Amino acid sequence: MSMGSDMYRQQILDHYKNPRNYGELDSPTFSHRGYNPSCGDEIEFDIELADDGETIEAATFHGEGCAISQAAASMLGERLPGMTLAEVEAMDREDMTEMLGGDISPMRIKCAVLAEKVVQDGIEIYRGERDPETTEISE
Ligand code: FES
Repeated sequence: MSMGSDMYRQQILDHYKNPRNYGELDSPTFSHRGYNPSCGDEIEFDIELADDGETIEAATFHGEGCAISQAAASMLGERLPGMTLAEVEAMDREDMTEMLGGDISPMRIKCAVLAEKVVQDGIEIYRGERDPETTEISE
């Protein structure tokens, strides 16, 4: 398994063992859950928006899974406050692999992008652009 340089591997393990913003919000604007059926790993994000209905004010997550999926959720959750929904929608898998240190093996890409997909699908559901179904990632 390739998880990047020592520095990034340590960061991933640190976020995995000490996830930031872990838990649930009292009154989220929306929540969304996703999982990877091949391993059962799951992540749920709670998102609270500012009064403009577009800027993320707070984000928490909870879930269970491999170090990369949970560290990615922790790292993404740290970045979300202050971002607009449009900015989050514009993120792609490179943003996630970069956040994790850039050296994610093809086998682990699905681990790296689960959190991002959960938040992006949650945004689409919030906007009424998608059926409110649990996200499944299985690429
Ligand atoms: Fe399941 Fe990483 S092994 S998401």
